[in-house]
Amino acid sequence: MRVVESRRELQELSDRGRVAGHRIALVPTMGALHAGHLSLVSLARERAEQVWASIFVNPTQFENPADLTAYPRTLERDLEACRAAGIDAVFTPSAAELYPENSQTWVEVSELTRTLCGASRPGHFRGVATVVSKLFLAAKPHVAVFGEKDYQQLAVLRRMVADLGFDVEIVGGPIVREADGLALSSRNVRLAPEARRQALALVRALEAAEAAVKAGERSSAALLDLARSEIARAPLARIDYVELCDPDSLQPSLAELDGPGLLALAVYFPSGAGDPVRLIDNRVLRF
Ligand code: PAJ
Repeated sequence: MRVVESRRELQELSDRGRVAGHRIALVPTMGALHAGHLSLVSLARERAEQVWASIFVNPTQFENPADLTAYPRTLERDLEACRAAGIDAVFTPSAAELYPENSQTWVEVSELTRTLCGASRPGHFRGVATVVSKLFLAAKPHVAVFGEKDYQQLAVLRRMVADLGFDVEIVGGPIVREADGLALSSRNVRLAPEARRQALALVRALEAAEAAVKAGERSSAALLDLARSEIARAPLARIDYVELCDPDSLQPSLAELDGPGLLALAVYFPSGAGDPVRLIDNRVLRF
């Protein structure tokens, strides 16, 4: 497994792979790898001869400096996991490598970033779109795989690729969960033990709303009430947002659902130490 720190070196590796007729699939991550990330690696493997990952805790997508400081960094273990998963190359750039001195170029996706996480984390998606553009320019992959756990991120990146004409196929992978239903996240390790138990309120809210839709409920307000009241049963939970929106435009759903609705949740829970942990989860409700 190659570990590459420079963009130039990765570009050369990509050029050589392409000349050899290999398809290259990239799985961008911020490290602290878990089974959710590795599921994306498996999807990548189905689509390419060369599977590459990137590990970079991107400072520009953290609107809260404390969140950036607290973000888990486990590079040695991550590289071991990458080796075990059969990854061919890992890109581990420094911040200075991706953001040279006097950097001033940004990629901004306007409409899709106005709601949900874009509304509560100003500047977050500008950081994501910018760093993913830089990763694409460095790795020059044929395919890139992202998780539906970050539904809005996936939508924003699909839009960005279509708008800018990146020659990269974007593939989405389903949400991987713990045995009890909690969506895997690098942030889960920061949850206080009781908060970890109560965090199941998120998946319960999604399941309750899904069951209600299957049983015929179409009122957006009723579905949102149901989701909110499930979360309220966890006394440690503090809701950032609970929203029902169009799965494509991410604009709020009509009063009565007339097609699939994306139920998206962001909820704070107390951490073992330091600032609260913000968890997200989502499900497309279909009937
Ligand atoms: P990170 O949070 O490390 O996630 C890397 C990828 O793993 C993302 O595509 C994310 O959606 C996916 N992922 C996380 N948890 C998952 C789960 N439980 N099931 C399935 N997929 C999951 O997302 C980022 O990093 C960054 O914003 C990045 C795209 C790397 C840009 O910095």
